[in-house]
Amino acid sequence: MPNEKPKFYLTTPIYYTNGLPHIGHTYTTVVADAIRRYKRMRGYEVVMTTGTDEHGVNVERAAQKAGIPESEFVAKMAVAWKALWDELGIAADEFIRTTDLQHVRTVQWLFKLCKENGYVYKGHYTGQYCIYDNAFVSEAKPGDNCPDCGRPLETITEENYFFKLSAFQKPLLDFYKKNPNFIQPETRKNEIISFVEGGLKDLSITRTAIRWGIPVPGEEPHVFYVWFDALTAYLSAVGGPDYEKRGFWPCDLHLVGKDIIRFHTVYWPAFLMAAMLPVPKQVWVHGWFLMDAAKMSKSKGNVILPRPIANMLGMDALRYFVMREIVFGQDGNFSYDALVTRYNSDLANGLGNLASRTAAMIEKNFGGTIPKPGPRLPQDDALVKVTSETIEEALEKFENFEFARSLEAIWAAIAAADKYLTSEQPWALSDSEADTQRKATILWTTAELLRIVTVLAHPVLPDSTAKVWTLLGQTGRVAAVELDGLRWGQLATGVQLGKAQALFPRVEKQEAIERIEAMANEELNPAPAPPAAAPAHATTAGGAAAAPASTEKIGIEDFAKVEMRVGQIKTAERIVGADKLLKLTVDIGTEIRQICAGIAQYYEPEKLIGRKVAVVVNLAPRKLRGVESNGMIVAASVGPEGRPVLAGFPDEDVELGARLK
Ligand code: MSP
Repeated sequence: MPNEKPKFYLTTPIYYTNGLPHIGHTYTTVVADAIRRYKRMRGYEVVMTTGTDEHGVNVERAAQKAGIPESEFVAKMAVAWKALWDELGIAADEFIRTTDLQHVRTVQWLFKLCKENGYVYKGHYTGQYCIYDNAFVSEAKPGDNCPDCGRPLETITEENYFFKLSAFQKPLLDFYKKNPNFIQPETRKNEIISFVEGGLKDLSITRTAIRWGIPVPGEEPHVFYVWFDALTAYLSAVGGPDYEKRGFWPCDLHLVGKDIIRFHTVYWPAFLMAAMLPVPKQVWVHGWFLMDAAKMSKSKGNVILPRPIANMLGMDALRYFVMREIVFGQDGNFSYDALVTRYNSDLANGLGNLASRTAAMIEKNFGGTIPKPGPRLPQDDALVKVTSETIEEALEKFENFEFARSLEAIWAAIAAADKYLTSEQPWALSDSEADTQRKATILWTTAELLRIVTVLAHPVLPDSTAKVWTLLGQTGRVAAVELDGLRWGQLATGVQLGKAQALFPRVEKQEAIERIEAMANEELNPAPAPPAAAPAHATTAGGAAAAPASTEKIGIEDFAKVEMRVGQIKTAERIVGADKLLKLTVDIGTEIRQICAGIAQYYEPEKLIGRKVAVVVNLAPRKLRGVESNGMIVAASVGPEGRPVLAGFPDEDVELGARLK
């Protein structure tokens, strides 16, 4: 068909729901999202699938521990995973849950096809099983630990259905040969080829020892082995048995970490071959983010959480860092130090600074209208050349999944623009006609470079590039720009700049790290819910909707436990990464306290200085968004949104520290 866009289907792994996402899961998902955005800008109709792997003994146990039924547990977890992906700008088209009915049907259908084609038989299996990885370890003896995660194996004997994996040694080897790009990078391919050449044992694909799984129709209590179940989610997400209607199967790209390569490059194609279904085109295997050279895991207590980073530095900073810092395919160490250093150097001083200074100069010299450039000098030509080469290089590297290199090329262009401004010094030029024309050329040239890097960086930094796009007065969405048509010279003149929005405020490294760590700590060890009589700081001074009046009476001695005193606000400032909170210092007569109050959306910090307020002074200190808060400002909570209105002493000259009784 003439105008039909080519289709592209890519997936992240379907994540286990016995825990919440850490930076490792975030990494694959951010990469997938950036590829999705990039492919769309290259003219593809793209579907990206992510989702949750909700069956198996781990989930069974986690639900038990939480004291709720499995179905309720996984539903809550799926909501939590989705919410985090939304916060990180992940625009997945499909979110498949392995408890979805459409998925259950697809798994049962795939099994039926494999069985009808003669690749499934019943047998007994006794083996050493890792309940954490959901896998039998064929070479292990009783008492051994799991070679992957190091935890004790369990001996399990079961009647199982077996999949004749052994029959696929030759078909798989032939397939790898015919499709040399199926496994990427190359080193991983060799590893898998030697594994398959070493011989394949049949694989048990049902379990009877586990209750929480997809039933094998007519064969209860058999449920499907979690990997037979989870891998099939890739197909369920795009139509399952009706995949042909939607037209996205076979999948173009599975992104996976190196620990799950065999499942994706050996088992999965074999299941599909047995069912006579098309096999995916490519599996791209990436490395791990390590903490002190070890893989992150909750049990080791060395996980890095994405949300505190996004709260402190913005989601784009997190996305940029994971794609810039390690070579895709290899392992790399994670460090907060490197994260904040990159944030300040590449984002605050790099892209952010170039955008704001270019806009400010156009504002000052041309009333905020993009000027018409005059004749070009050799130094302008040099920048044009750099930019044109950047377009080519950034796209070529991205196409080859060399994301760090692609970003490096884009940031080299930003550095070239900085250098150009420093040497051309438009601020030193006069208002004469000739100088004004020269200024116009310099600023148009810089703005054009900025437009191009904004487009190129968009897949990785969707939020901030959209802001720069608006700032440059561009119409339409930056996401709608076609990368194939991106050229030097397309920046229209006479266009009025748009609204400037904060991009990447510089942060003080040590403070930023401490706050990220404190927020992570709060998330990993949430404070118990506050008792009703002493609501949390942030909610009382704004946040919570008005609570219904309680009918329960308390004695005066209960009230006396709350020590409230008159205080005066000395300083007030906004907190980067916490839209609702203000950081206040409050004089309570005997000392100056730092207190956070959830009033930022309703009170201007400057207008609070000098104001007298009622302060609860004997509340245990705690951290809010990583900032220490030692006390609570009292406020009424008004209307359905709970707008905070500070309690105060407007008419009386009250002494600081006076007690409220
Ligand atoms: N549920 C299976 C996947 C089924 S796919 C049909 C699973 N889930 S998982 O939640 O444990 O892990 C999913 C992915 O996260 C894997 O690709 C794994 O490599 C990746 N990561 C987990 N920790 C990681 C790092 N520290 N660094 C990078 N990625 C890592 O396996």
